[in-house]
Amino acid sequence: MVITLLSISDLSVRYGRSVKALHGVSFEVPEQTVVAVLGSNGAGKSTLLRAISGTLSLHRGEITSGTIHLDGTRIDRMDPASIVRRRLGQVPENRQVFGRMSVDENLRAGGLATEASRRAAARDAVLDLFPKLAERLSQPAGLLSGGEQQMLAIGRAMMGEPKVLLLDEPSLGLAPQIIERIGKVVSEINQRGTTVLLVEQNAMMALTVAHTAVVLEVGELKLRGDADELKRSEDIQRLYLGGHAESEEHADQQQGEAQERVERRRKSLGVWTA
Ligand SMILES: Nc1ncnc2c1ncn2[C@@H]1O[C@H](COP(=O)(O)OP(=O)(O)OP(=O)(O)O)[C@@H](O)[C@H]1O
Ligand SMILES: [Mg+2]
Repeated sequence: MVITLLSISDLSVRYGRSVKALHGVSFEVPEQTVVAVLGSNGAGKSTLLRAISGTLSLHRGEITSGTIHLDGTRIDRMDPASIVRRRLGQVPENRQVFGRMSVDENLRAGGLATEASRRAAARDAVLDLFPKLAERLSQPAGLLSGGEQQMLAIGRAMMGEPKVLLLDEPSLGLAPQIIERIGKVVSEINQRGTTVLLVEQNAMMALTVAHTAVVLEVGELKLRGDADELKRSEDIQRLYLGGHAESEEHADQQQGEAQERVERRRKSLGVWTA
C-alpha cells in the first residue's frame, strides 16, 4: 500500500497584496520516494517549499487557500518550529550555512530540535554520509567550497532525522561533477529511509534521482508523471533539457546563467559566508 507522507491540496499563495505566486497546486509525495519539482525562474518552486515548511511569513507571503498535510496531520497553520519537530527538514535556496561558525557548530545547530538522546546517532549518520565533513569539523564553514557547503547544509538538515527532506536547488552554481555527487547523496539519503522533495532547475539530475516529478509554470502545476517518462517527453526535452542537453555549449550557457543567479542572490541576501 502506498502511504502518502506529504499531501498538498489546492494550494494558493500570495506575497503582499498583489503577487500571486501559486494557484491551486495539488500533488502528493508518497513515503520513501523522491519527488522532483521542476520549473523555470519565478515558477513558484521556492514558494512551494516555504509554504510546506511554514516559513512564508518570513518573506511576507501567506497561504490564501488550500491545505498541507504531513503524515496525516494538517501543518499549513503551524509555525516552522512545530513543523520541524514533526520531522520535516529543509535546505533553503543558496545553502545559507553559518559561515563564521565551525562545521561542527553548524551540524549541532541542525540538531537542536532533535531529542537529546538521538543527537549522537544523528551526527554519526551524517558524518558517515559525508566523510569529508568529518575531516573538517573544526574549520569555519565559510572556508568550505560551494559543493562542501551544500553537503554541510544537507547534513545540517539531516541532523533533525527528517521523515521528509525539502531541498531547494542543491545544484545551483556547482560544477557538473559536484552536481553528480549531490544526486548520489540524495539517492543515498532516500535509500536510508528519508522521503525527498527535490526542487531543481537541473532537470537531468533531478529526473535521474527522482521517482516522479511535477512541473510548475507561473504558479500552476502543469505536468506530473513518472520521472523516466518525463525525461523522454518532448516538452521536458525542449523546455528543460534544451533538446540537446549533452552539448557543451548548452552546458556552458546553463553554468553561466546559474552563476549569475548565485551572484544576484548573494547581493540580495547580503553576504552570508566569509
Ligand atoms: N518575498 C517575495 N515578495 C514578493 N514576491 C515574491 C517574493 N518571493 C518570490 N516572489 C515572487 O513569487 C513568484 C515565485 O517565486 P519563487 O521564488 O517561488 O520562484 P522559483 O521557482 O523558486 O524561482 P527561481 O528558480 O528563480 O528560484 C515570482 O514571481 C517571484 O517574483
Ligand atoms: Mg527558487
